[in-house]
Amino acid sequence: MPYGLTRLHGVTEAQGSYNRHATPQAAGGALARPLLEKAARDLALDAGDRPIVIADYGSSQGRNSLTPIRAAIAALRTRLGPHRPICVVHVDVAENDFSTLFDVLERAPDSYLAEDPDVFPSAVGRSFYRSVLPPRHVDLGWSSYAAVWLSRIPAMVRDHFWPPASTGEARAAFERQGALDWNAFLALRARELRFGGRLVVVLPGLPEEEPSAAASGSHFLMDHANALLSEMVADGSITAEERARMLLPSYPRRRSELLAPFEPDGCFDSLAVEHCEEFPVPDSGWTDYQRNGDGAALAARYAGFYRATFLPTLASGLAPERGAEGRQAFIGRVTEGLKQRLIRQPAPLQLTAQVMVLAKQGPA
Ligand SMILES: C[S@@+](CC[C@H](N)C(=O)[O-])C[C@H]1O[C@@H](n2cnc3c(N)ncnc32)[C@H](O)[C@@H]1O
Repeated sequence: MPYGLTRLHGVTEAQGSYNRHATPQAAGGALARPLLEKAARDLALDAGDRPIVIADYGSSQGRNSLTPIRAAIAALRTRLGPHRPICVVHVDVAENDFSTLFDVLERAPDSYLAEDPDVFPSAVGRSFYRSVLPPRHVDLGWSSYAAVWLSRIPAMVRDHFWPPASTGEARAAFERQGALDWNAFLALRARELRFGGRLVVVLPGLPEEEPSAAASGSHFLMDHANALLSEMVADGSITAEERARMLLPSYPRRRSELLAPFEPDGCFDSLAVEHCEEFPVPDSGWTDYQRNGDGAALAARYAGFYRATFLPTLASGLAPERGAEGRQAFIGRVTEGLKQRLIRQPAPLQLTAQVMVLAKQGPA
């Protein structure tokens, strides 16, 4: 691993924090629901009684998987009848908060397990940049806001910590790593899918023409956090060495980057592109703010999203001797600083989501 660091790439804040705060991701995932239902209706099914397998690649703590997986199961049930077993496998890295995930699956009133005793959940704690399931095992794959995280850090970003803010050689290194990881993710999933199976992927969008930090909807949150880190170095809360180790290996891809492996004929490995579309993500926080003018509520909402999604990864750059308490203090300080800045300068997130539907080609 470069720089000799152990890093948590995208691991979300534990104890259900991600579940409580990941509303932008939920809104992005909701846009893909009709395409996921269609994929469940279109995928090849045999007439036997083997369990049907749904894989959720990068599940985090499960809350945002409930609605899409429930919708997919409902679409499958119209074809399978009520009793054919369905296995749902949630894949995430071993450090993920799987306890919260299983708790949510059992208790949430809108869980896909409610009222369907023939659905069987399980989890795999392993990077999806490796094989996580046997060959030709998965009927329907779902991956939402997960494959944006790179497998490794190919470069550091000068005066920032976020790849879209990089330029020159660093930018080229992130583009190369982004392409390598996307190809690897697709090739591994192609092997795990059954013939005629489908994979639905949701990723944050990045405009084609202007692949810079300023072009991405969440850039102002990244810039605020970056300014806060400089303040924390200046006042001695963190050291310059710790700051220099902080990097978010989150790499939003342009549409052309997502489609590049499928050139020139729409196929990569055994996968064919059935659909690729970019949607603006509705932002209920901003809509509420426009209605009620409550800037503190808007700031708390955006800062909570940022905290749960990104701050554990940034905190992994802190010196190990600070321990869990030091990491929590850091996360709390950045979150509070973000809130104050956002109260002073409210702005909309303006996110987009890319949705791809891929079909596994081959004999039925
Ligand atoms: C932003 S969360 C998305 C959670 C959920 N799918 C959603 O739509 O809200 C990204 C998840 O991907 C996981 N992740 C990142 N890199 C991964 C990898 N290499 N293998 C497995 N999971 C990974 C993170 O641990 C995190 O739980």
